[in-house]
Amino acid sequence: MAIRNIVTEGDEILRKKCRVITEVTDRIRMTMEDMLETMHSENGVGIAAPQVGVMRRMFIAEPEPGRVYYMINPEILEMEGTQYGAEGCLSVPGLVGDVERPERIKIKALDLDGNEQIYDFEGFDAVVMCHENDHLDGILYTDKAVNLRVPEEPEEDDE
Ligand code: NI
Repeated sequence: MAIRNIVTEGDEILRKKCRVITEVTDRIRMTMEDMLETMHSENGVGIAAPQVGVMRRMFIAEPEPGRVYYMINPEILEMEGTQYGAEGCLSVPGLVGDVERPERIKIKALDLDGNEQIYDFEGFDAVVMCHENDHLDGILYTDKAVNLRVPEEPEEDDE
């Protein structure tokens, strides 16, 4: 495994739409392991492939320590309710902002073995999934956030 450089806001890469993964290969799995290590090195709770310069539809979410989701070709099937909370992003260091997200989502994705899984998430889990999924379409949370600010204390839940 290796820690990769994180692409930061201003780089065009973060604004592109990622391509569908046609086959879950060892190369994809290795990239995911690098993404996990990179995310951990930055105390993040999520990381999407374009944040390490890989333009493929995949991300990792770890909404609580040790509970890791590998999402390949994710698709949000249903969204319900709304919630509103502070988010940060590894690609936008030093800022947080408040974003409206669905309270609950149903999402399908391939896992690392290439098997389709369907998940229901709510609360913070749903926030992380939506934030990461947006990255795959070139959308940053700062596009949706209000009250962007420098946090008073360093936050450890950057995505
Ligand atoms: Ni992010």
